[in-house]
Amino acid sequence: GKDGYRHFMEKELHEHPLVIGQTLQRMVDPASRRVVLPDLPFDLATVPRAVITACGSAFYAGMVGRYWLESIAQLPVDIDVASEMRYRNPPLTAGSLGLLISQSGETADTLAALRSLRQKAVHILSVLNVEHSTMARESDVVLGTVAGPEISVASTKAFTAQLTVLACLSIATARARGTLDALAEEELVAALLDLPSRAADVFAQGDAIRRMAAIVAEARDVLYLGRGSMFPVAMEGALKLKEISYIHAEAYAAGEMKHGPISLIDRTVPIVASAPYTPLFDKTLSNLQEAKARGGRLLVFTDTKGAERVSAIAEDMVVLPHVHEFAAPILQTIPVQMLAYEVAVLKGTDVDQPRNLAKSVTVE
Ligand code: M6R
Repeated sequence: GKDGYRHFMEKELHEHPLVIGQTLQRMVDPASRRVVLPDLPFDLATVPRAVITACGSAFYAGMVGRYWLESIAQLPVDIDVASEMRYRNPPLTAGSLGLLISQSGETADTLAALRSLRQKAVHILSVLNVEHSTMARESDVVLGTVAGPEISVASTKAFTAQLTVLACLSIATARARGTLDALAEEELVAALLDLPSRAADVFAQGDAIRRMAAIVAEARDVLYLGRGSMFPVAMEGALKLKEISYIHAEAYAAGEMKHGPISLIDRTVPIVASAPYTPLFDKTLSNLQEAKARGGRLLVFTDTKGAERVSAIAEDMVVLPHVHEFAAPILQTIPVQMLAYEVAVLKGTDVDQPRNLAKSVTVE
């Protein structure tokens, strides 16, 4: 049941800290604090490149995964949504790593992409929540997300569990490829191990999130912005809002705003920015200043360090603990999903079963 929560989605949002912790337990050896993967039938040190594919939220998790695999492991990555990847016929080097991500393991397009990658002699590593699924049977290796059953059509905890697995995979890949020394690895693992308790801190921001929800619920269009690994977080926030509140939302890489969407900005289009204090913070801040100068109302998801710099222009803020840049997309996902939830509650929609949507999309 819903354990006293209003909806399964609310219950599942509250499971983020637990699920991140359980997924880490599966991937990090407690004694050595090192990432330990199951035996792989290929060598991460020598895979020439990775090709990532998935649908919906799982695809956004893959985008964060690309960011980590490229920046930490220096592994070249190609990524596309599965419905495009399966028909693209991209040139692929045999022995590449095919990285498939799916909560259900049954999504038709992702499964078809898996099969087309396999035909090109690509190793298939799938990140799956349902471990006895069709995709699991057809993969060379499965890394399980330990999210438990996800009932709400809108994915929440499965997404942060996917990010957690991809973070660990990136660390292991980097170690294998010699791009991460022991000290740096320790720092990244520490940042991940710290996440369950930092994630629990997010729920203290409920009042700020509900204040923002009251503004967003009145809007017809909402613009989500983020840079670097926060860009997929913005995309996740926008998708969640569309799915369950039926409000149109679009996510843009913050630097792209001035190439078009800036002309949309006025008081009626709230701007939701994911902007924790990372090395890209100042860049995002200057984009937000531009939006503010054009009458934009800024709802900013940041951290204690970022809040000092952005408070002067923000209409409202959700201030999370400051964490390592590596862990920030995982932590910052939670409040943007909560925002979508609170907006849907205000709008009175069928939160767990939004119209026209299925939990698992098993037809093309
Ligand atoms: O089961 P999957 O992870 O393969 O599903 C992929 C998408 O259908 C899914 O993430 C969808 O976008 C969710 N409703 C998002 O909340």
